[in-house]
Amino acid sequence: RYPEFVKIVEVGPRDGLQNEKEIVPTGVKIQLIDMLSETGLSVIEATSFVSSKWVPQAPTDYQMELMADSTAVLQGIKRSPQVKYPVLTPNLRGLEAAVAAGATEVAVFASASETFSRKNINCSIAESMQRFEEVIGLARQAQIPVRGYVSCALGCPYEGHMLPAKVTEVVKRLYGLGCYEVSLGDTIGVGTAGSMATLLESVLKEVPGHALGVHCHDTYGQALANILLALQARLSGSLGKVPGLELGLCGWCERQSTELNQATSPPPHPTPPTVTFSEKFRWDGGLEARDSAIPVPWQGQEADNRVNF
Ligand code: HMG
Ligand code: MG
Repeated sequence: RYPEFVKIVEVGPRDGLQNEKEIVPTGVKIQLIDMLSETGLSVIEATSFVSSKWVPQAPTDYQMELMADSTAVLQGIKRSPQVKYPVLTPNLRGLEAAVAAGATEVAVFASASETFSRKNINCSIAESMQRFEEVIGLARQAQIPVRGYVSCALGCPYEGHMLPAKVTEVVKRLYGLGCYEVSLGDTIGVGTAGSMATLLESVLKEVPGHALGVHCHDTYGQALANILLALQARLSGSLGKVPGLELGLCGWCERQSTELNQATSPPPHPTPPTVTFSEKFRWDGGLEARDSAIPVPWQGQEADNRVNF
């Protein structure tokens, strides 16, 4: 009853490492990607060609500078012919640098939330679409496939609940611009099976299921449930073909994704890091995620400024 094949996009080396407190040495990143290449994964998001000067305003100590070595990482890895290594490119400058470093697939990232868009890529949603139109146009000329992300698809740390219709508009726009696949990003992991179902119902009216993926952060332990929903949406016929599936953020989720792909029995989870309240969003999943004492950002408190995305 479930799809016979699920494409897993391993995003640990990019999304996982970008949230690490410590700067990870370039050689370690290369080693991580090389090891992942041997697991049987077919897609490993390797790095991002973003401004090393840009520290998104959301997390006070966000380590964007760790992506300053994107060229060295992309050129240092042993590329397996069976694996694709997409990289994030927020603008033309990023695309040019990525192509010069040998990227053969890229991803643009938009947001369903105006506030998040400004804080993450320093422009409005409309402006981001203009940028992406250029990026996608140039990439396509170079025959480089482009994926798209829509952040805050199930909730925003600043604006709270996102209307599915608004998310759908952004997804539709990216698909219309030429992204072959658009990934619905539950950026802060506040999605539930119910909100995922509602979102998919809306998005699937506008974009075919085979062009959709889900990118579920496990902040509150709901990522697998939300992914299951996406798989079940296919069961009812609404997802058409096979939905994309993304896992793998911090060490926790990265392990999960490898486990799923390998279909091996899961190794025991490592002891979760001790987190303070102010750091709660820095770590996806783990025991904290199941601690009902941690409220979701817009229930009874201001959004915490240190948000993991
Ligand atoms: P900006 O400051 O508006 O850019 O940032 P700018 O064009 O004004 O340029 C400012 C400086 O940055 C200039 O340098 C540019 O050359 C340089 P200066 O002239 O001052 O020396 N610059 C660049 N350098 C390297 N690579 C580039 C680049 N572009 C400009 N590509 C910008 C706009 C988009 C660049 C910036 O806001 C940025 O890099 N943002 C990226 C933030 C980021 O990486 N966020 C995390 C990834 S998204 C995510 O995690 C969500 C996701 O996981 C899905 C989900 O969970 O929802 C995908
Ligand atoms: Mg993410």
